[in-house]
Amino acid sequence: MDYTECERLKEQIMPYIEEHLKPSRFEHTLNVAELARTMALRFGEDENKAEIAALLHDMAKYEKRPGVNMDFAHGKIGAELSAELFGIDDEDILNAIANHTTGRAGMSKLEKIIFLADAIEPGRNYPRVDEIRKIAETDLDRACILSLERTIEHVREHEGWYLHPDSLEAKQYLEEHLMESKELAELIAKTLNDKKGIDVALIDIAERSSFADYFVLVSAGNERHAQALRDAVEDVLEPLEIFPKNVEGKNKPTWILMDYRDVIVNIMTQDAREKYSLEKIWGDCEIILCN
Ligand SMILES: [Fe+2]
Ligand SMILES: [Fe+2]
Repeated sequence: MDYTECERLKEQIMPYIEEHLKPSRFEHTLNVAELARTMALRFGEDENKAEIAALLHDMAKYEKRPGVNMDFAHGKIGAELSAELFGIDDEDILNAIANHTTGRAGMSKLEKIIFLADAIEPGRNYPRVDEIRKIAETDLDRACILSLERTIEHVREHEGWYLHPDSLEAKQYLEEHLMESKELAELIAKTLNDKKGIDVALIDIAERSSFADYFVLVSAGNERHAQALRDAVEDVLEPLEIFPKNVEGKNKPTWILMDYRDVIVNIMTQDAREKYSLEKIWGDCEIILCN
């Protein structure tokens, strides 16, 4: 969606939601829209679509439908109204609005962003919200799992409350599709080999370390090659929605360290690799050579 289209829609949407939402809900909506836009930029999603979906997500919150539980249904009804009143026909936006309350199995990136932005916008305050916020900076899937986990706990603590089956299915789906640390380490090793990384090795540090399961080591011919190796890893993992928690050594790449939580990637020039000799430090762990 381009900027002009987004602005045109906002001119229609803003007065509508301001009129139909309570002031606190309107403020919440603006917070969700701002956060959704930021998250879309970070995770490579269309930020205009994210903003529109966010502005519309609670539009039906105070609609009345006889015999319908609007706590669960306002998303689905909001999606219908969005199509009807504002001509929204983008399936992804409509799904993001429809499923923002419960989540669902197989959520798209945009759906995850709206689901999370709704749960963690700055106005939200509940146990573990900061933990979810932190993870949502780098990992949509794990943040969604944690948020769903927290919802499930919360509902179980209250007698008579009802957990929507979509939430359980959403969590199971995400857990089943998370990449195992070994699989991730092997994918990174393969990528480094394909880019002519030198002496690619995996060290299984799970037994000896509390912070990660694997080190991936690779030497680069020179600093430019080190940068290229780093780019290659990011290019392969970003489409899978896997982002590093932290990258060190971007400016002087004799040692680039990419922290993918369970897997830490060390891209080093040959001098640095010899000097720091991580293989020796972790010598009693299993080292798997991948070339
Ligand atoms: Fe909602
Ligand atoms: Fe909301």
